[in-house]
Amino acid sequence: MVDVGQITKLAEKEIKRSVSLDVLSKLEIKYLGRNGEINKLLSAIKNIPDEQKKTYGQRVNKLKASMYRYIETRKKELQNKKSGVFFDKTLPGKTYPKGSLHIVSFAIEEITKVFEKIGFIRVSYPEVDWEYGAFESLNMPVNHPARDDVETSFIDTPAHPKLGKMVLTPHTSNGQNREMKRVGKPPIRMINISKCYRPNWDATHTPMFHQFEGLCVDKDISIVNLKGTLDYFAEKYFGVGTKTRLRPHHFQFTEPSFEVDISCNNCGGTGIIKANRCKVCKSGWLELGGTGMVHPNVLREGGIDPSASSGWAFGFGIERVIMMKYGLDDIRNYYSGDIRFLEQF
Ligand code: DAH
Repeated sequence: MVDVGQITKLAEKEIKRSVSLDVLSKLEIKYLGRNGEINKLLSAIKNIPDEQKKTYGQRVNKLKASMYRYIETRKKELQNKKSGVFFDKTLPGKTYPKGSLHIVSFAIEEITKVFEKIGFIRVSYPEVDWEYGAFESLNMPVNHPARDDVETSFIDTPAHPKLGKMVLTPHTSNGQNREMKRVGKPPIRMINISKCYRPNWDATHTPMFHQFEGLCVDKDISIVNLKGTLDYFAEKYFGVGTKTRLRPHHFQFTEPSFEVDISCNNCGGTGIIKANRCKVCKSGWLELGGTGMVHPNVLREGGIDPSASSGWAFGFGIERVIMMKYGLDDIRNYYSGDIRFLEQF
């Protein structure tokens, strides 16, 4: 008569001592295979006296269950243990998703490079400044109505006796006076990129946004230099063939002042696609931002003699140029933190 207890002990001992997965799989066949020990025990049931059949069957089934457990446990142990298992050190490790620059940071780098190539110096002037920097130095004296054109957030701190209240800068033009004073005398070629604040929130405005401000001051600088620089930027940033045009406008800090448009790359500047109006621009042109020849008062305030030097300046929105470049329709997505949107760039 077969001794189930003895087989259990033997199997357990053998399984525990197995040195490799190979040996273990042989033991698995030996005990659990079709012609294995367990099946032999089960078929021996016919020789067992009737009154013992039940207990016998239960014991064998219990043994079978523990056999599975022993084998599984040992298999895990052997897999974890390097010895006896081939461990391929050359297999590539786990890969983790790579991060990338945020689209605004990426655009800042791109724009910086475009201007550095032609000798501009990248600066980043404060996003919190005195009223003087944001307005007075830009030919917008105290109580001048032009100050109301840009809704400005004031900081709740005591005002400076000369420089006025503190503001969250509504534009990067505050960098103009600071750069003129830093450099001292022309030539000046500045690209100031910084955060700006205006209380708007819709598909094309976020309360915090970025601008890049160009300033070029030297002897005999004219609109021709301005137009040439804008054309250069448009081709480099938006793509070969992109054109610019100037439309008369008004800014306190420039005279004359313009708004700059670039030709729409979606319709090739025609405003028409297959006999239909281009949905991106509607007219062949897209508005880029403001520019002009630096007002003599602004030069003077920066310590530069307007009879000896002249200059131009511009201020464009980073979020806006990204939108124009990629044909995006809602800049709030930039700051949503939604990785599905951000990882496309
Ligand atoms: N500061 C203006 C704005 O935020 C943009 C601007 C217009 C900047 C003309 C300039 C300029 O430097 O010359 O709307």
